[in-house]
Amino acid sequence: MAKVIASAPGKCILFGEHAVVFGQPAVAVAIEQRISVSLELSDKKDDEWRIDGMKFIASKHPHVKALRSRMWQKSAGAPALSIQISGDIPPASGLGSSAALSVAASACLRAARGRWLSEGGNASEPKDWAEGFSSKIDDTDVYSDVTKGKDLARRAENNGHRTSHVFGELAVDLDESALLGHAVEAIAQGGRASPMDSSTCAHGGFVLLSDNIENGADWEYTRKMSTPEGDRTWQVHTLPISVEDQDVYLVIGNSGVHAPTSQQVAKVAKAMSQEPQRMKEIETIGVIARRGIEALLKGDFEAVGRAMSENHLMLRGLGVSCQELENLIRAAAPTSLGVKLTGAGGGGCMVALTRNPKQTSEAIELAGGRTLISKLGNNGVRIDSDEGLPFWKPVA
Ligand code: PMV
Repeated sequence: MAKVIASAPGKCILFGEHAVVFGQPAVAVAIEQRISVSLELSDKKDDEWRIDGMKFIASKHPHVKALRSRMWQKSAGAPALSIQISGDIPPASGLGSSAALSVAASACLRAARGRWLSEGGNASEPKDWAEGFSSKIDDTDVYSDVTKGKDLARRAENNGHRTSHVFGELAVDLDESALLGHAVEAIAQGGRASPMDSSTCAHGGFVLLSDNIENGADWEYTRKMSTPEGDRTWQVHTLPISVEDQDVYLVIGNSGVHAPTSQQVAKVAKAMSQEPQRMKEIETIGVIARRGIEALLKGDFEAVGRAMSENHLMLRGLGVSCQELENLIRAAAPTSLGVKLTGAGGGGCMVALTRNPKQTSEAIELAGGRTLISKLGNNGVRIDSDEGLPFWKPVA
């Protein structure tokens, strides 16, 4: 039976949320909780896709719809699929569940479809691909939402000449999964999305996003996207941090309050335009984030915790905390190295860095939060199993 399963982790922002919108560095870490996507050929005769056994309704699943038009065009002969989605990342809580889904699904589709390479091609060299999306090649357009009749994945001219075919893990590329994840997140969110979630879910470990190339980090790629507010460029890095021998954990506490990210971002933008001198606060978050990054690189988790708590004070000053988050943060503080809200704020989650995860978790739960415990720096997207690949290959 043809089947492929991929999974990707959720994420949690350790430093720099909100300030990153103004170009400052921000760091996210992949958490233990994951979304798993499984693909099989649909056994229904009606040529319709299924999701979790139900008929696929494109408007309900904008991420899957956008991926389908990039990776699995019916017009090119792609067969109908049955998709199962499972996992333990709570949705709509700032932990990257939709990016994890998008990134895992993009890896599944690539493994199942495989990739054509041009003459003498090497699967790990985007310049040799006859099809696919990469930050390193710019003759394909992953972001365009006008996909009718176009094979967005195919490369131009000679490079688009399909000569050899690879599939399964060999065809999967982390940057491509991140890029597809970013594009479909942006499409599902009205053209606005930072690559923070998709890159962290794809690469795993620690991801640093900034407008500048930052010292001490491993620069991975430049990401560009047109947004309704104009063109945006980010520098995406990973951080070479080993946490293997560290007895330190994250406890994430969910306030249960729902606050849309767009509203929180708009709130900060309004404050900055009304009182431009407050940009100093954004710059201070940047200074704290850089100090946090240095501490992470040194493995000095006491200093990482201090930077997290300082970062929180600045976020509170910006007006993006709320009483429910403050209650959880106060409850976690005595047993933690550091504690802050994570993500957009106004609700959503807080995160504590702690050597006593059980105690910290209990304190947060007593204060009314629902908790998740995670070690730091987990694996990015991966193919967990596959058989009977490829499901299909577009004609050369
Ligand atoms: O809601 P989250 O966890 O994805 O966090 C949003 C992070 C912000 O910096 C507030 C917004 C952004 O686009 O970076």
